Amino acid sequence: MPDPRLRRRLVEEALRQGYNLSGEALRRLESLEDPLGALRRVLERLREEEPEAIVVEERHVEATARGGAEGHQPQREQAVVLVEAPEVNVGEEFLREHRIEGKAEEFRQYFMDRYRRLRMILGERMSFQSVVEARRMRREQEATLALMLLEKRETEKALIIEAEDETGIIRVVVPRRSQKPYEEAVRILPDSVFAAKVRRIDNSFMAQEIHLPDIPIARENSGGPDLNLCLISDTHVGSKKFRRDLFESFLDWINRGRDGEVRRIRYLLIAGDLVDGIGVFPGQRWELEETSVKRQLEQAADLLAEIPGHIKIILSVGNHEPVEKALPQPPLQGEYREAVLRRREVILVGNPARVEIGGRSILMYHGQGLDDVIQALPDISYNTLQEDVGKLLRTLIRHRHLSPVYGENTPILPLPRDYLVIEEPPHILHTGHIHVAHAENYRGVRLINTGAWQEQTSYQKSVGLQPTVGTMALVNLGTLEVKLRRFT
Ligand SMILES: [Fe+2]
Repeated sequence: MPDPRLRRRLVEEALRQGYNLSGEALRRLESLEDPLGALRRVLERLREEEPEAIVVEERHVEATARGGAEGHQPQREQAVVLVEAPEVNVGEEFLREHRIEGKAEEFRQYFMDRYRRLRMILGERMSFQSVVEARRMRREQEATLALMLLEKRETEKALIIEAEDETGIIRVVVPRRSQKPYEEAVRILPDSVFAAKVRRIDNSFMAQEIHLPDIPIARENSGGPDLNLCLISDTHVGSKKFRRDLFESFLDWINRGRDGEVRRIRYLLIAGDLVDGIGVFPGQRWELEETSVKRQLEQAADLLAEIPGHIKIILSVGNHEPVEKALPQPPLQGEYREAVLRRREVILVGNPARVEIGGRSILMYHGQGLDDVIQALPDISYNTLQEDVGKLLRTLIRHRHLSPVYGENTPILPLPRDYLVIEEPPHILHTGHIHVAHAENYRGVRLINTGAWQEQTSYQKSVGLQPTVGTMALVNLGTLEVKLRRFT
């Protein structure tokens, strides 16, 4: 059955570029996996090879389809037998709003909880003495401590670390010549928890070993249903830079794809910044196509309404959504919630959110804290992000915390429990925010950033950040294989 919406879009795209489509060319395009993408390639080729042509014939489509990977997909995957889609389970703590009173005691409790939870992870593979006990040691005696980093200072010969546990503060010297502990120590982020084996030498403590909580042993792949998750983030609907055309190619693909990959998709996860919002940064209104955030959400809901009904949508929030900015963020509330839900069912979750599907755990996290990690680490910057996203995401998982640095750009609510500690390593860590796509397997955890659907903004240009525009990740729940796909 021809899809009139797709038909119109193909004709319009051809006209926009100064061409007419013959009926045969149109039908041939419709039979391809990514019709809009294919059309754009056909026109590009035509402009080069037949600059006089103004009508796209079937043979032009044929030549491009045969030339590229975009060949007509015969229906050989008809035999895919789909298992029933399991339920989506989300912990209640990721579905509600959290509040504080603003008392100093709340900060003390929050840091104590962060410390204890991370110490517990380290405690699975070592046992600890306390700072007070270390101070009582004689020369050459050793102790292993679980410490929270207060400050780091470089001197000519060593890195001096000031850190504390529940009993007191200690200064640890990490000589530059002790290569392994030094390399680990320079990467420890402020306010994070680590283990240090120290030796008493006169009045100071020398680091012998430094360990981050990390994931010490790769987790086994225990298997899951043969169904796909589709992961995206950072569409920024409402921005002048939102690539609606690419998103429509994605909608066409997810509606029309006949290959097994598309037919296996049962879930679409969106890790925040669905809309561009308002007042997020100075001068933003000049970059907006739609200045009402409610209308931005309604436009986004119209696009989500085009996702097939058998695909469950799980929507988290980011720093551009109209909700509390401090982590953990609640799901969309009130009229904004209504705006998103007006066209179809969507599971609204907070940020971060741990989502369980078919025995797999997915930790959705927009990624605000990544800005502070970039600032804190000497060897990562925005203009090298294309190569360094993996290092950045590994830093979070190795610290077992989603936003280790406290008190810089990322506001964190000092709650009695630190929900940002990564207690159980998830199967998938799905992030966004930095707009650069990446996927890798780190000790059994799929670290994924799903890029963006917004062209480079003026801010990104000023810091040299090249976004990956039009990207989604497809993850099979059974094999945990990840495929990044870019719509052009
Ligand atoms: Fe974003």
